[in-house]
Amino acid sequence: MDIILLGPPGAGKGTQAKRLEQMRGMIQMSTGDMLREAVAKGTPTGLKAKAVMEAGELVSDAIVSALIGERLDNAAEFGAIFDGFPRTGHQAEALEFLLAERGRKLDHVIELVVDEEMLVERITGRFTCANCGAGYHDRFHRPKTEGVCDICGGTEFRRRPDDNEQTVRTRMAEYRAKTAPILPLYEQKGLVRRIDGMASVEQVAAAIDAILDG
Ligand code: AP5
Ligand code: ZN
Repeated sequence: MDIILLGPPGAGKGTQAKRLEQMRGMIQMSTGDMLREAVAKGTPTGLKAKAVMEAGELVSDAIVSALIGERLDNAAEFGAIFDGFPRTGHQAEALEFLLAERGRKLDHVIELVVDEEMLVERITGRFTCANCGAGYHDRFHRPKTEGVCDICGGTEFRRRPDDNEQTVRTRMAEYRAKTAPILPLYEQKGLVRRIDGMASVEQVAAAIDAILDG
């Protein structure tokens, strides 16, 4: 099963994608994580992407579509969770092509509907495990044991350089201008399922499970 999790920055896409990986063996395809890895390694893609990401703008369609194309076969068995991709009409077309080439097609586009003002608080309080990437929040989702990752037991955590208020506002404007307009395309195909992204992590997870098992 191949699904898209769609929603603005901080909607909870990464949180839910990681859970689906653990529970179902699906593979999270986060172009944001792929780009951050490229930046950390200093690859040619990373060198191109770094400043664009720090400004909160979108990296080129060609770069992110290539990243997905290189990894899609890893998710052949249990399917992919596209997280943060596609973000433009061109990326949506590229994804359709990449899936069709492999005899696959999208099963669901799950939109996490959220209140944008709350997202600023979510994002500026966010941190992740440096070892396994599990996501946490200063107020909403702390590790069960203080300073220890619930998933892997790691004790080192990180914050993203683009998680400051000004960059978050640019990222939201990019979402409204370039990503939200792809929704009608998926609506026409009857693929869109909307869920309340302001509910708790557990409630959002249950709503996603109901769609995938429905
Ligand atoms: P990317 O990494 O994709 O970032 P994003 O879309 O801005 O999304 P986030 O990772 O910020 O949010 P999320 O929805 O995953 O929320 P999370 O689960 O962490 O992209 C970064 C940049 O890379 C872009 O700006 C762009 O430059 C570039 N890029 C990436 N993909 C691209 C593409 N396809 N094309 C072009 N450029 C691209 O949750 C947020 C916080 O809230 C966490 O702390 C979490 O614990 C908490 N939380 C989650 N769910 C809940 C809940 N239900 N209740 C309370 N708290 C919650
Ligand atoms: Zn961890």
